[in-house]
Amino acid sequence: MKDEKKLRSYDWFGKSDKMGFVHRSWLRNQGYPDDYFKGKPVIGICNTWSELTPCNGHLRDFAEIVKRGVVEAGGFPLEFPVTSLGETIMRPTTMLFRNLASMDTEESIRANPIDGVVLLTGCDKTTPSTVMGACSVNLPTIVVPGGPMLNGRFRGECIGSGSFNWLIKEKQSVENYTEEDIHEVEIGAARSQGHCMTMGTASTMACMVEALGLTLPGAAAIPAVDSRKKVMAQLSGRRIVEMVKEDLKLSKILTRKAFENSIIVNAGVGGSTNLIIHLLAIAGRIGVQLHLEDFDKIGSKIPLLANLKPSGKYLMEDFYYAGGLPVVIKELKKYLHNDAITVNGRSIGDNNINPPCYNQDVIAGIDKPLQENAGIAVLKGNLCENGAIIKPSAATPSLMKHRGRAVVFETMEDYHRRIDDPGLDIDEDSVIVLKNVGPVGYPGMPEVGNVDLPEKLLKKGVKDMIRISDGRMSGTAAGTVILHVSPESAVGGTLALVKDGDMIELDVEKRKLHLDISDEELKKRRAAWKAPEPMATRGYVKFYIDHVQQAHLGVDLDLLQGGSGSEVTRDLH
Ligand code: FES
Repeated sequence: MKDEKKLRSYDWFGKSDKMGFVHRSWLRNQGYPDDYFKGKPVIGICNTWSELTPCNGHLRDFAEIVKRGVVEAGGFPLEFPVTSLGETIMRPTTMLFRNLASMDTEESIRANPIDGVVLLTGCDKTTPSTVMGACSVNLPTIVVPGGPMLNGRFRGECIGSGSFNWLIKEKQSVENYTEEDIHEVEIGAARSQGHCMTMGTASTMACMVEALGLTLPGAAAIPAVDSRKKVMAQLSGRRIVEMVKEDLKLSKILTRKAFENSIIVNAGVGGSTNLIIHLLAIAGRIGVQLHLEDFDKIGSKIPLLANLKPSGKYLMEDFYYAGGLPVVIKELKKYLHNDAITVNGRSIGDNNINPPCYNQDVIAGIDKPLQENAGIAVLKGNLCENGAIIKPSAATPSLMKHRGRAVVFETMEDYHRRIDDPGLDIDEDSVIVLKNVGPVGYPGMPEVGNVDLPEKLLKKGVKDMIRISDGRMSGTAAGTVILHVSPESAVGGTLALVKDGDMIELDVEKRKLHLDISDEELKKRRAAWKAPEPMATRGYVKFYIDHVQQAHLGVDLDLLQGGSGSEVTRDLH
């Protein structure tokens, strides 16, 4: 009885009063025997399954496998759905709803008789949203990443999901791809369950949670349809019951060391720039001090080891067969905090002592990396007082130091209207500036920063140009793309003041992004600037616009920072 009292769920199921009766009686309609209400740890299985989130379409079945593990370990599994965010379906962008989904997760966990949580995640935002929500409650929590799809296939070649999208315009206008060609790609790119199989944002998020210590070792890269993924799900179900008994809460795992490890590992795998805003938001929820500058300080000198698209050659299936994330963690051990604790109670160093690498073309050794200094660079300057970022491993080396003439698009619609106008005054040295795609301006900070180049330049053979915006870029994309400019243009950042023909200077080595106009001129333009009309006047979107923070702070809502713990002081009535 003493042990039972320690469980949070005892407050619901352990009492012999009227409310104890109410809490137990209605659940009994599912057919649970008496002993389920007598001191078994209740494990909430937080499921982001949805038919509208194709990447998470298999998670309904996965929940049953997790339950198997929970029951084996003596727990009482209860699955619940939370808002799921389908990257390729939702409009205007899933990022607008990440914080909403995190609120749903947080309140669903806290309001229910849950002692420990399993997060079933997959598509890009479903991992950070659920982890953010869980952090604000701070119960023992384990993540089961749903896993990538098998490699895409097209005419005997491997193709990466996501990465091909960005080439369609070029394929059609330069290589004369027909509609039938594109249709064939469409079918072959997504040929199994799972999320994008490039090192895009979903794979980055899976690696992020493994590096943070929130998954069992080796979970991130296992393809969704590999039977070993099911084993991982079952073992995670077993382990969460033990974590409840050990009171191994999120705050014990998510220390500053864990966040630093995640930044280092992300550089090693060439992960998505989206890691920055999600990791900042997660740190803000769990109360760890993490700043945009840390990504540069901690990550930029880390070598690139994983040869994965979009910057490299292979896909996640190959990564798994080569040894997966444990190999990268082992290779990076001289940079990592190897004593950081993980969900299995062991340190990340102990979990990854000597995993074999089966293919050094896919995962390079630390003594022969694919690229030195591969992490994200944080830029500063009058064009981005609070920072902007660039992923050097995805950029063109010759453009890393550049001075060019701005060609400005006020909105995404303006860009679409004019980019292929043959009369547009633009050449390969120009700098494309895209405004009003930030957290407030779009709203929701969509993945549009890597806009296509003008058709007339593609036809000339131009492959890359500098593009600057306050938006994000898909983790599956590449190019010399400067993103997350903060403050954004819609709130009066300097980006809002750039005009066609202004000269812009980029120097990645010096971390500098500069708008070359005089201070007087800048002052004059600032005084004349008018804020755009707000994008919503009611509902969640209005609430979001009123409270969302800028990119350098993680784009969380200001009033969601921190946590409220797991206690609920008032009963039903
Ligand atoms: Fe879901 Fe890429 S669209 S992971």
